[in-house]
Amino acid sequence: MVKKITDKVTWVGKVDWELTHFHGHEYSTSKGSSYNSYLIRDEKTVLIDTVWLPYDQEFVSNLKKEIDLNQIDYIVANHNEIDHSGALAELMREIPNTPIYCTANGAKIIKGHHHQDWNFVTVKTGDTLNIGESILTFVEAPMLHWPDSMMTYMSGENILFSNDAFGQHYATESLFDDKVDNCELFAEAIKYYANILTPFSRFVTKKIEELLSFNLPLNMICTSHGVIWKNEPTQIIEKYLEWANNYQENQITIIYDTMWESTRKMAEAIADGIIKSDSDVTVKLFNASKEDKNDLITEIFKSKAILMGSSTINNGLLHSIAGLVEMAKGMKFKNKKAASFGSYGWSGESIKLLTEKLKDAGFEVVNDGIRSLWVPDDDEKTKLSDYGKSIVESLK
Ligand code: FEO
Repeated sequence: MVKKITDKVTWVGKVDWELTHFHGHEYSTSKGSSYNSYLIRDEKTVLIDTVWLPYDQEFVSNLKKEIDLNQIDYIVANHNEIDHSGALAELMREIPNTPIYCTANGAKIIKGHHHQDWNFVTVKTGDTLNIGESILTFVEAPMLHWPDSMMTYMSGENILFSNDAFGQHYATESLFDDKVDNCELFAEAIKYYANILTPFSRFVTKKIEELLSFNLPLNMICTSHGVIWKNEPTQIIEKYLEWANNYQENQITIIYDTMWESTRKMAEAIADGIIKSDSDVTVKLFNASKEDKNDLITEIFKSKAILMGSSTINNGLLHSIAGLVEMAKGMKFKNKKAASFGSYGWSGESIKLLTEKLKDAGFEVVNDGIRSLWVPDDDEKTKLSDYGKSIVESLK
């Protein structure tokens, strides 16, 4: 299925309603996703990006119904992770000499994946391609989120083909931002930013400032995943500037795992103390073993402080907490406070271990944590509630 974007631009991608995981199993896609590819017809014909490998034959077959493939003058490969370059091999079997415009890193990555020496034309920021009434201008965007990433701006139509930037893993047949449920859309957009782009926030800010300095008219941002930002294309740019700037809300998130409910009881008593001390703060509690890990990363992204709890098991941490701290370390969160807690029966190492892991992950750890022997009684719960109050104090 193809969809008209403007008189010159047609969406020729794939909506993947069934997708449940992305990047292997590193990212959950509870609302599916899409691999957006675009066909530009001016005096020259240009294909922007392709789709993920499992849909390569479907993609090429649909494209053939839309256009004689030999009429495609140029392919632009904005980014060559396999969800966008997966169908290249199938396409290049049909049109093997078609020039592929990409960054120098893009050519290396395509060769590394497909082991083919196709007709690469490597471009840098500011290089242009005249396609008739419109001119395509390339803007490198390294580490947003791979070394090869770039964006392509189309004059006349005033479209920024941003690839992964500003995307969401969100399946929709409606294509445009004003045709979907905006709560769902922004929930997926922030999850995508938190889990994929947070480690690269300083590049996000610089790249957006560079793009804005060009003063280009902007009618649409055509992403490679999810909706096209058409109604108010600048709204997602403003959100990205906000999210990239050590984003936090007035939220404290308590994430724990528990063997026999003692660590859960500790979490609830600490939450009680926090809310008694600051009724304006949002406190959320999650059992890490029952929650989606990417939703938890999104909650950490929104938090000004986190409390992580684990019972001690085999002189260590419960695996859901250990795994989550490792994920959080990769996100390189900035300006977030943290502390640990957990129940124990004899050795009780989890608090010390977790405190060290939180420090190692870049959190500002505010104390040495608190642990409870066996099951917290009322006196212990009072201590835990006071601990919650002390956390609020440490944030002032
Ligand atoms: Fe959508 Fe980085 O691939």
